[in-house]
Amino acid sequence: MSDQAPSFGAPTAEQKIAVQTRTLVIGPYLTVHGTAIRRSIEARIDEASGLARAIDLSVIDSLVVPLKALRPATYIGKGRLEDLHERVETEEIGLVFMDCALSPVQQRNLEKALNCKVIDRTGLILEIFGRRAQTREGSLQVELAHLAYQKGRLVRSWTHLERQRGGFGFLGGPGETQIEADRRLLQERMKRIEREIESVKRTRGLHRASREKVPFPTVALVGYTNAGKSTLFNRLTEAEVLAKDMLFATLDTTTRLIATPHGMKVILSDTVGFISDLPTMLIAAFRATLEDVVEADIVLHIRDIAHEDAEAQSEDVTAIIGDLGIGPGSGHQMLEVWNKSDLLDEADRERLANIAAQSSSQTPVVLVSAQTGAGIADLMTIIERALLEEHVDMIVSLPAEQAGEAHWLYEHASVMQRTPAEDGSISLTVKARPESVARIERRYGTNARRA
Ligand code: GTP
Repeated sequence: MSDQAPSFGAPTAEQKIAVQTRTLVIGPYLTVHGTAIRRSIEARIDEASGLARAIDLSVIDSLVVPLKALRPATYIGKGRLEDLHERVETEEIGLVFMDCALSPVQQRNLEKALNCKVIDRTGLILEIFGRRAQTREGSLQVELAHLAYQKGRLVRSWTHLERQRGGFGFLGGPGETQIEADRRLLQERMKRIEREIESVKRTRGLHRASREKVPFPTVALVGYTNAGKSTLFNRLTEAEVLAKDMLFATLDTTTRLIATPHGMKVILSDTVGFISDLPTMLIAAFRATLEDVVEADIVLHIRDIAHEDAEAQSEDVTAIIGDLGIGPGSGHQMLEVWNKSDLLDEADRERLANIAAQSSSQTPVVLVSAQTGAGIADLMTIIERALLEEHVDMIVSLPAEQAGEAHWLYEHASVMQRTPAEDGSISLTVKARPESVARIERRYGTNARRA
């Protein structure tokens, strides 16, 4: 086994093969009297297909297998398994993605019964995280999760361990390769990665400390996968961030500097999309991508309000950010952005716009369409208002001979109004972050005062 960290960045050989991998997506969902628990079956199977397509698998079909009870050996029943086997044979399916968590034994039994590769939800999400992780810490956390997952499944043919041996990952051809189980080496590798993560974290702490000196507040976008975070981010920054109809288009945080209507500079950061039932072992990897959210002054929760599962998605996001200590009483200003208003019919749009207009100032709601730009100006105004709430109002009056000094103020505070007098003196009404007040007073002396 090589010590080299696998390259998660651009596994192009895999991707090429992945495109040709004929994949069947199975939703083996527990049902009560024919209806799925909590989420609609259609939405779940659609999301499952989306996950498979996120790593360019060629999805031939997706089908729901409703279950009254789970079979310990094979998860789904024998009759269903026989039907599936026939499909796998006749349609030359190379991979079956089961949208559930399989035990190593179930996975092996299914592979034998179906005579093709089988991957479960955790395995697939690991592949997606692995391909999308961009920062060192993101990659390391994903690798750690991958190794932990592998520990129980050493007889697999798609692991990163095998990639290091020159294999093509889980998509690399039929048959099951026997990998020698070497738990001790695996354990050592995991320990090394944990140490490396610690050191990366320390370095990142330093980076953050230097960024804290920048006198700009931060606004973080969070939301369920495909809610439209990247599209909104682009709309607000006009930057070219990857926005595709693909789940997990973003894993690591992306940040940009934007200006509010009064020229107040704000750091905007985009984050990875949330999904339901995130496997426990992936939570640390996922959290590593969310550290910026904890530090943010304002957290924007982007919701696809036209989605039939909008409520359940929102609960998932709220629960995960709650675990990170973000929520009511945490000191973060939360703002809900109801996106994709263009997909609503007239009556719904009006109804939701009314609810948004009546929302509380504690959690304001804004109805927008990141695609068409509707509501974006309102959103910027609300972000600005929320940020300014904690700012201190000041008045700086500069005599004519010091008028040139005003430019510094534009860099370090938000100038709301500039009033020049006939004698050349100027008066500036500003809003300053609490930590900037002392600096302003030092710089302008008696010319600066709190309003
Ligand atoms: P992840 O990276 O998976 O977390 O997704 P995301 O939340 O960043 O979503 P993204 O911006 O990639 O958008 C997902 C899909 O929704 C894309 O096809 C967008 O074009 C589409 N979309 C985003 N905003 C809107 C909107 O306001 N209206 C409509 N109709 N589509 C939108």
